Amino acid sequence: MFYDKSSPSVPYTSFKRAVNETIARLLGGVEPAGLRRALMHGTVGGKRVRPVLTMLSCSAAGGNALDALHAATAIELLHTSSLVHDDIMDNADLRRGVPSIHSRFGTPMGILAGDTLIALAFQLVQKGSSPAKDRILSRFTKAFLHTCEGQGYDLALAFGTETSPEAHRLMVEKKTARLMEAAAAIGGMIGTTNEDHALALGRFGFDLGMAFQAKDDLLDLVGDEKALGKPVQVDRRNGKMTYVSLAAPGRSQEDQRVAEVADRVEELTRSACSALDALPPSPDRENLKAIAYALLERQH
Ligand code: IPE
Ligand code: IPE
Ligand code: MG
Ligand code: MG
Ligand code: MG
Repeated sequence: MFYDKSSPSVPYTSFKRAVNETIARLLGGVEPAGLRRALMHGTVGGKRVRPVLTMLSCSAAGGNALDALHAATAIELLHTSSLVHDDIMDNADLRRGVPSIHSRFGTPMGILAGDTLIALAFQLVQKGSSPAKDRILSRFTKAFLHTCEGQGYDLALAFGTETSPEAHRLMVEKKTARLMEAAAAIGGMIGTTNEDHALALGRFGFDLGMAFQAKDDLLDLVGDEKALGKPVQVDRRNGKMTYVSLAAPGRSQEDQRVAEVADRVEELTRSACSALDALPPSPDRENLKAIAYALLERQH
């Protein structure tokens, strides 16, 4: 696995470290101490997939990955805010291998910690010095609104009678794929003025986001709580509409559902990678593909 300590890919490991250092520095300035403690507790341990995508997309587009560090970290903070609030919505008591913020510090602190991460994310994204700064901020804001709307659909569809693939697709698109799309596209916008290349990176991020949610839904069914660091088998209990709940309606066997969703993850991953063919060949373009395929196999 690309983030496995035994075989780390060099850019992934170094980008992840840079993002972690930026987060630690930012959180160090938050007052009061109780809020700071909750934030530190909830920001440790994520895979940092999105910020790594931003930085690698920047370099795959011909730029310097470090120029994307602020935007990348802002995306990670925004993503983490959605997890903190998601755990309240989904009544999930474990996240990133530790008790979720609201279960450890109480729901009021969970709400506040999520809000604080949003504020820090917007503050940080405005610190970038890219000439495309205004467009980046608007892209970032739009992705955040999409995430909120997607989470709204997630709630609206739970325990519902709606079973259409279109309704499900719209929910996943908004709650997960749009932020990954923005993560890659913003990296592209920082790395190049070539709009076609930034668009291609966005298409890559979007399909990768769809694949990511399909795999996440699969892991809820077949994953291991300890490896995942979050509770398993909660989607059915919460009545969620997922890739698994919609799979193989005529075939009730669990292994058939698992196989169908696994095929979907692979198909979406392949489609994501094909978008990268619009970019000039480079080691970083291949690194993006390697990350996409590693995510296909992930167990957490
Ligand atoms: C989980 O995201 C939420 C989804 C969009 C499925 P990640 O699996 O990226 O969570 P962390 O950041 O690594 O904890
Ligand atoms: C979360 O979907 C998507 C977000 C935008 C946070 P899930 O509810 O499936 O995420 P996990 O499984 O709790 O990480
Ligand atoms: Mg949820
Ligand atoms: Mg959840
Ligand atoms: Mg899930």
